[in-house]
Amino acid sequence: MNTVIETLKNRTSLRTYADRPVSQEHLDIILDCAMRAPTAGNMMLYSVIIIEDKKKKEILSRTCDNQPFIAKAPLVLVFVADYQKWYDYYQAGNVEDYCRQENIPFTYPSEANLMLAACDALIAAQNAVIAGESLGIGSCYIGDIMERYEEHKKLLNLPDYVFPVAMLCMGYYPDHYTKRLRPRFKREYVVFKDSYRRLNEDEIKDMFRSLEESFRTENPYNAKNYAQLHYARKTGAPFAREMARSVREALKVWNGDNRKRHD
Ligand SMILES: Cc1cc2nc3c(=O)[nH]c(=O)nc-3n(C[C@H](O)[C@H](O)[C@H](O)COP(=O)(O)O)c2cc1C
Repeated sequence: MNTVIETLKNRTSLRTYADRPVSQEHLDIILDCAMRAPTAGNMMLYSVIIIEDKKKKEILSRTCDNQPFIAKAPLVLVFVADYQKWYDYYQAGNVEDYCRQENIPFTYPSEANLMLAACDALIAAQNAVIAGESLGIGSCYIGDIMERYEEHKKLLNLPDYVFPVAMLCMGYYPDHYTKRLRPRFKREYVVFKDSYRRLNEDEIKDMFRSLEESFRTENPYNAKNYAQLHYARKTGAPFAREMARSVREALKVWNGDNRKRHD
């Protein structure tokens, strides 16, 4: 096994960090590696916001579903899908006028642009994760940055065509930290050949068997099985409803709803 494969195979999410800052040298490497990530059309449809302000970290630890370890992370990076720079560039280059003259339809940034920009941002983020891991710097994604769109927009000064898709908490591994690799589903339920294969009842049962072992009938959600418990804790939880609301609100910028309202 080479060291890249070793790093990939041993990565876990890290939520407690050694109490020292990430060195400038290591931060530079992490950012350089993030920026070497593949990017759609080489447009680099993302930006990275380094959260240095302690107060902002504390706010984010609350707005991102109350996760106190965020405030304690030595390095916090927010990866934003960013179409604003290209939009502004097109505006500066009078692209709208040009389109009118040439009979080319001019389209404002759309949901497709957001999806592409989100891909760019996440791929760059994962490069940062792996670069960090190889330097003894662990990390944890925070998906909750997609919640509270309006508050995060204000807090991070995000223009309309910028959406925060991922936040990374990073820091050196604490001394004597024992890594625990979390199990994954069997490969046969994740990797298909040539076309998608919908899993049958027995396969679904088998896929979730090991997760179901942790299920206890006494649980605070009154759940009768693991599916119910999981739904109550994750998919149907208040944070997930807030994420749905928040993303729907953000999408109004990209699907043209806000423009229609102003016209
Ligand atoms: C998009 C995304 C969002 C996540 N959000 C959170 C989060 O808000 N809080 C957290 O503690 N972990 C978060 N995680 C980490 C996952 O819980 C973790 O990756 C998963 O449990 C598997 O564990 P592992 O990374 O150690 O293999 C997130 C991971 C991803 C990819």
